Amino acid sequence: MRSSEWSYRSDSFWSNDNVAETGCLSIIVLGASGDLAKEKTFPALFHLYCQGFLPPSEVHILGYARTKISDDELRNRIAGLTDILIEPADIFSVREAVKYVSGSYDSAEGFQLLDKEIAMHEISKSSQEVSSRRLFYLALPPSVYPPVYRMIRKYCMNKYIKYFPADLSGWTRVVVEKPFGKDLDSAELLGSQIGELFDEPQIYRIDHYLGKELVQNLVINISSGRFANRFFLPLWNCDNIDNVRIVFREDFGTEGHGGYFDEYGIIRDIIQNHLLQVFCLVAMEKPVSLKPEHIRDEKVKVLQSVLPIKDEEVVLGQYEGYRDDVTVPDHSNTPTFATVILRIHNERWEGIPFILKAGKALKKGRYTCEKQGRNEFVIRLQPSEAMYMKLTMSYDQSYCFYECCFHVCRLSFMLQHVKQPGLEMSAVQSELDLSVMRLGQRYQGVMIREAYERLVLDTIRGDQQHFVRRDELKAAWKIFTPLLHRIDNEADELSAKAGYVQTHGYIWALPPHRNLL
Ligand code: NDP
Ligand code: BG6
Repeated sequence: MRSSEWSYRSDSFWSNDNVAETGCLSIIVLGASGDLAKEKTFPALFHLYCQGFLPPSEVHILGYARTKISDDELRNRIAGLTDILIEPADIFSVREAVKYVSGSYDSAEGFQLLDKEIAMHEISKSSQEVSSRRLFYLALPPSVYPPVYRMIRKYCMNKYIKYFPADLSGWTRVVVEKPFGKDLDSAELLGSQIGELFDEPQIYRIDHYLGKELVQNLVINISSGRFANRFFLPLWNCDNIDNVRIVFREDFGTEGHGGYFDEYGIIRDIIQNHLLQVFCLVAMEKPVSLKPEHIRDEKVKVLQSVLPIKDEEVVLGQYEGYRDDVTVPDHSNTPTFATVILRIHNERWEGIPFILKAGKALKKGRYTCEKQGRNEFVIRLQPSEAMYMKLTMSYDQSYCFYECCFHVCRLSFMLQHVKQPGLEMSAVQSELDLSVMRLGQRYQGVMIREAYERLVLDTIRGDQQHFVRRDELKAAWKIFTPLLHRIDNEADELSAKAGYVQTHGYIWALPPHRNLL
C-alpha cells in the first residue's frame, strides 16, 4: 500500500491548505450518457472547472458509455447543463478538456481504448506516469459495478511504482453511488467485490447528503459546537431532549423514474442512507479529533448501539397515484412513505426516540412539536437552509437567555416576540433565528455550493470525511435489513390481508396498529 493512499490529506476540515496535489488529473465518468451524469456529475465538474478548482493545465474529463456519441455531442451537453453565468473563454476551455469514449462495461477492448486515451492525455501534459491521478466516477446502475471494477483494475490503473516517494506518487480512485446493495448480504457482496480489487482509501462511496451545506455545518455546529459549546453541551442528552425528528419530504412523486424506485422503496432510497447519516451526526459521541477516520469511527459506534427496530414503531404508506406512473408495476406494494423509530442503547440517548420520516409526494406542511411547552431546535437542510430555536418562555426568561446566548455562544440570534401581546402573561413560541438567509445578508457573495461539487473536490483532494466507510455501511444495513426483509416478504400478503386504508391522500399499506405516528 502506498503511503500516499493512507495518509489522509485533509487533517482538518477548517482548512484545505494541506491537500494540494499536482500532476495530471483524468476524471472518467462511466455511464456518461445517463441521468446522474447529466444532472449532477458533469455540472459539478463544469462548475469546479470554471471556478478554477480543476486547473486546465492538468485536468482532462472523459465520458465513457455504450451509447455512441461524438466528443462534440458530449461537449455540447456539458456546456448546456449549467445555469450559472460562464465566460465564453471558460466554455471554450472546458470543451477542449472533454473527450468521449464508447465501449461496453465488460469488454477488454473498450477499457484498453479508454486507458489509451488517458495515457495520451498524460503524455501530452508531460506527466510522469507515476504521478498521474485517475478518478473513475461510476454513474452507473449497481448491477454493472462488478465488471467495471474488474476492467478498471485490469486495464486502467495509473502506473505507479511501489515505494515511489509519496510526494511524487499519483493514484487511482473509484467513486461509487448509492444504493450500495439492497440489504446486508448484497452490500457485503458488493463490498467484497470492490474490496478484492481496491483498497478502502481508494473507494469513495457517495451519499450526497454528506455534501450538503447544513449537513456539513452539522459536523461543525453539532460536533464541535455541541461538544465545545457550553450552551449545547449540557443539553445534548436524554435528560433534556424529548425526541429527535429527522424528516425528508418531497412534494413530487416518482414521475416517470419509478423503475429504480419501485425496486428499492423509500427506506432503501432515503432512510437507510441520507437520513441515517444525519442521525449519526446528531447522535454520535465526541470524536477523538476532527480527522475523517475519527469522525467515521464515532458514526460506526452509534450505529452499532441502535436497538432492533420494533414492528410497532414503523409506519409505511404508498401515495395515491403512485401506480399510475407507467414505470411502476400495477400491483406494486413498494412503500413511498415510511416512519421508523430508532432507539439508541447508551447513556446519552437511553429511551429517546429518533423519529426518521421520509415520503415522496407529500403535501407541504410543517412539522411542529405537539406537546405544549416544548422548545425546539430546528435544522433545516433544504430548501432555504436554516438553523433556529423555538422557545417557549416568558419575557424575563427570554431576556436572560438572549444575554446568555450573546455572551456564551457568540452567535447571532434574532430575538423575536416571546410574549403574547396584551394583558395576559401567556407564553408564545419565539424563534432565535440562525437562518442562512439572514447570515447571507452578512456574508454576501459567499456561494452555497452544490453537494456534488464539494464531494467531487473531496475525492480529488483525498478527503474521505464525507464518504461512507465499509464498516459504517455494514452497521447501517444491519439496522434495516430485518425490517426490509419483513416488508419484502410480507408485502403481497399484507395487501391482501389488510386492504388499503386511505389517509390524507395516502394509502396505508400496513394494518392500522402499525400506524402509530
Ligand atoms: P441511468 O439509468 O441513467 O444509467 C446510467 C447509464 O448506464 C445509462 O445511460 C446507460 O448508458 C448505462 N446503463 C443503464 N442501464 C444499464 C444496464 N442495465 N446495463 C448496462 N448499462 C446500463 O442511471 P442514473 O444515471 O440515474 O444513476 C446512476 C447511478 O447513480 C445509480 O446507481 C443510481 O442509483 C445513482 N443515483 C442516481 C441519482 C440521480 O439523480 N439520477 C441520484 C443518486 C444516485 P449506456 O447505455 O450508454 O451505456
Ligand atoms: C436521491 C434519491 O438519492 O436523493 C431520490 O434517490 C431523491 O429519490 C433525492 O429524490 C433527493 O435529493 P435532494 O438532494 O434533492 O434532497
